[in-house]
Amino acid sequence: MPQRRRNLRSISTPIILGAVSVPLSIALLVGWAIVLADNVAESDDATVDVWLLVVGSVSFVVVVTILLLMSYYLAREILEVRRQDTFIDSVTHELKSPLASLKLCLETMARPDLPEDKRAGLHNMMLGDVERLTAFIDDVLQSTRLASGGSVGINLSDVKIRDLAERISESSARRHQRSLGLVRIAIDAEMEVVTDEAALEIVLKNLVDNALKYSPPDAPVDIVARRDERGRAIVEVRDRGMGIERRHLKRVFNRFFRVQKPEVRQRRGTGLGLFVVSALVRNMGGRVEAESEGEGKGTTMRITLPANDEVSALAEEAAQ
Ligand SMILES: Nc1ncnc2c1ncn2[C@@H]1O[C@H](COP(=O)(O)OP(=O)(O)OP(=O)(O)O)[C@@H](O)[C@H]1O
Ligand SMILES: [Mg+2]
Repeated sequence: MPQRRRNLRSISTPIILGAVSVPLSIALLVGWAIVLADNVAESDDATVDVWLLVVGSVSFVVVVTILLLMSYYLAREILEVRRQDTFIDSVTHELKSPLASLKLCLETMARPDLPEDKRAGLHNMMLGDVERLTAFIDDVLQSTRLASGGSVGINLSDVKIRDLAERISESSARRHQRSLGLVRIAIDAEMEVVTDEAALEIVLKNLVDNALKYSPPDAPVDIVARRDERGRAIVEVRDRGMGIERRHLKRVFNRFFRVQKPEVRQRRGTGLGLFVVSALVRNMGGRVEAESEGEGKGTTMRITLPANDEVSALAEEAAQ
């Protein structure tokens, strides 16, 4: 892909420059130190030479450190630009495809001879497109707010986690045109978590959406929840899909990050979902982690939320 090749070229130039300049500086330092050490041995006034040796060595170490730091920050910036390029590509795609579908539906509906049942079908399709566009714009706005450190209000209530999981599994299965039984739930009907229900719903929706999106159409997904020995709630979404390489397990939570492989690129996405998930979970006092045995071996996303009494104590403290 030309864009990708251009990006790789823009990264490789500063890396090559850094890789050449650092060993050159080190070779220069060593050569210069040897020459100076020889002079010190032969010279009458050794003090001046010793000082020269010390000052020169320190300056060289500083220069090499600066070069290393510069290469690191440069490569980091270029990677960020690359991620934003991917994001813009995805956004364009995300906006274009429902708009094209809406246009087509409207044109078809304008036909006077269109049977009533077809009209109703098109109407539903348009509603689905509008829902997708709204959800997408909400995601972008929310992630921008979270990335700029904006606070998200916490609204605590007792959440029956199984009811929430059932609601999400139904809507996600429908959205991904999968059979309803494909998302299996193993959660005690009485399990309640004191947390922000709206935030937890966004978190679980994103995790279940990913689990379905990055799995074959007939692969089941499990949502399980339990309490650990310290009373914390552990909720896991497990799939049997394409899995995540070990080196990407932490990066998937970065904004705009998408694994760069064809199977991922074929599926629609902007790399915002897990960034929103991790920011919201942190805001709820919990943490999220990804686990996978590797490519093709499925993924488990695990969120850990604080114990109920811990949340209530924190809320009381905040209210005082
Ligand atoms: N369950 C999963 N199995 C395999 N890969 C996953 C899974 N969940 C996330 N990923 C990888 O992590 C990346 C980031 O996920 P994230 O949900 O943030 O973005 P997305 O799904 O690409 O887009 P969207 O913003 O629409 O959610 C994905 O592009 C994919 O490469
Ligand atoms: Mg996603």
